[in-house]
Amino acid sequence: MTHQVALITGGASGIGLETARKLIGQGVTVVISGRRQEAGDAAVKELQSIARDGAQARFIRNDVTDEAAAEAMIDQIVSEFGRLDMAVNNAGISNETATIEGSDSDNFRAMIDTNILGLYFDMKYEIRQMLKQGKGAIVNLASIAGLNGMPWAGAYSATKHAVAGLTKSAALDHAAQGVRINGVAPGAVRTDIIAKQLEGGDDNYNEANISAMHPMNRLGRPEEIANGIAWLLSDEASFVTGHILSIDGGFQAK
Ligand SMILES: NC(=O)c1ccc[n+]([C@@H]2O[C@H](COP(=O)([O-])OP(=O)(O)OC[C@H]3O[C@@H](n4cnc5c(N)ncnc54)[C@H](O)[C@@H]3O)[C@@H](O)[C@H]2O)c1
Repeated sequence: MTHQVALITGGASGIGLETARKLIGQGVTVVISGRRQEAGDAAVKELQSIARDGAQARFIRNDVTDEAAAEAMIDQIVSEFGRLDMAVNNAGISNETATIEGSDSDNFRAMIDTNILGLYFDMKYEIRQMLKQGKGAIVNLASIAGLNGMPWAGAYSATKHAVAGLTKSAALDHAAQGVRINGVAPGAVRTDIIAKQLEGGDDNYNEANISAMHPMNRLGRPEEIANGIAWLLSDEASFVTGHILSIDGGFQAK
């Protein structure tokens, strides 16, 4: 992977940051994007300290809900590094644990803006650049909730089903053009997104219950998701496209 260039949206925390650590440790130059400058600066400092083979780390302040900013971000990466080999569309929110009838429509709209439209904007400009190169690999963050119904998370689940649809359809669009597009569907992973849900959720929504949803009876670790993402991005997965890789402690096997 040495001397390649990767973009990871929402890369200053959780699964995105763990993926950035894994890639830069393999000599990949990593651009992370996000809304918070301070978090981005701190992540870049850490990433630069573990970089191998001259790889570089950069942060671009970017909100995925802004389409013009998505185009500008890809232009900025190409003007500095000359190419974009890999992209991980990871930025996402889960802002409510509620039944459909008890949920807030504004929360659903915010999840549509970030999880669906945001991912679509980034993917569009990433693919345009990769087509110019004749090569590229993209991984989108879906979820177990993107492959199955999920009680108390209907709106989030709907947005992650959309991610699976966008991933498979884009993979078909570009399968013969050298651009591979896959997804990962993590089970519950110990990151901020889950911590916030555990704080704000119903009494029945606690760590023991969430762990018990997974046959391995535990939450996942960010590095377990990053390992799958890195494999899908690598040439080892050269005949894999349109696949949603479950990394979920056995959840999908039930
Ligand atoms: N943690 C889990 O259990 C789990 C399970 C399945 C899927 N996922 C998905 O994995 C991805 C990463 O989540 P995580 O668990 O690392 O949580 P996280 O909250 O640490 O990471 C999400 C990142 O996206 C960023 N982000 C949110 N909205 C943004 C916007 N509008 N513009 C730019 N950046 C934005 C956040 O600031 C954060 O850095 C998400 O798409 C999430 O839905 C997480």
